[in-house]
Amino acid sequence: MTVKIAPSILSADFGRLAEEVRAADEGGADWIHVDVMDGHFVPNLTMGPAVTAAVRRATDLPVDVHLMVERPELHLEAFRDAGADWITVHVEACPHLHRVLERIRESGARPGVALNPATPLGSVEEVLSEIDLLVIMSVNPGFGGQSYIPASSRKIERARSLLRTHGRSDVELEVDGGVGPATASEVAGAGGSVLVAGSAVYGAPEGVKEAIRNLRSAVGPGRT
Ligand code: DX5
Ligand code: ZN
Repeated sequence: MTVKIAPSILSADFGRLAEEVRAADEGGADWIHVDVMDGHFVPNLTMGPAVTAAVRRATDLPVDVHLMVERPELHLEAFRDAGADWITVHVEACPHLHRVLERIRESGARPGVALNPATPLGSVEEVLSEIDLLVIMSVNPGFGGQSYIPASSRKIERARSLLRTHGRSDVELEVDGGVGPATASEVAGAGGSVLVAGSAVYGAPEGVKEAIRNLRSAVGPGRT
């Protein structure tokens, strides 16, 4: 299985955003991950549709929008219009998760659902037929640069087997938080198919392109 690398622009230099996105693209990134935080669902404020649109203008790579917001249904069209290819909502933020996932699909984007570390996998079992992406949070969302929670690896393995049992091995299994050169091969070995990396890419002293190359060599070949 080919493992995708999705640099998170949360740790990029926002003053040079387009350049930072292009560096990831040229360095061999597969997707660009956009972390949207509302100051309610998580204790931090980040970016919205305008920044997403700026990312969209800088690359042809798939733009992967991770909504860490309450009432995400209010913003789906705005992010789709801004150029999001993938839109992920949190199960903890959506009492009407099935309807929200349907609306993402109807918008033309591909639907994803994310689980916080404390949220059991069973909470998405009833909507597996609605999603193209399952995101296992390996940190508590809100900030970049946190440490990978070791118990996540077992959860990734169980998520991989849940997808297989339900005939949905085609669903991308993304792992988000604390993924870097030291954890990438364990995450990929557990069954992760998309690795989000923020500080490990944009905070790396060796630079963005070299950081992506290092991650790639930890997990095997990527896009051609
Ligand atoms: C966490 C975000 C992550 C984060 C990853 O709330 O969803 O995408 O930016 O950053 P690192 O790779 O630094 O943990
Ligand atoms: Zn994220």
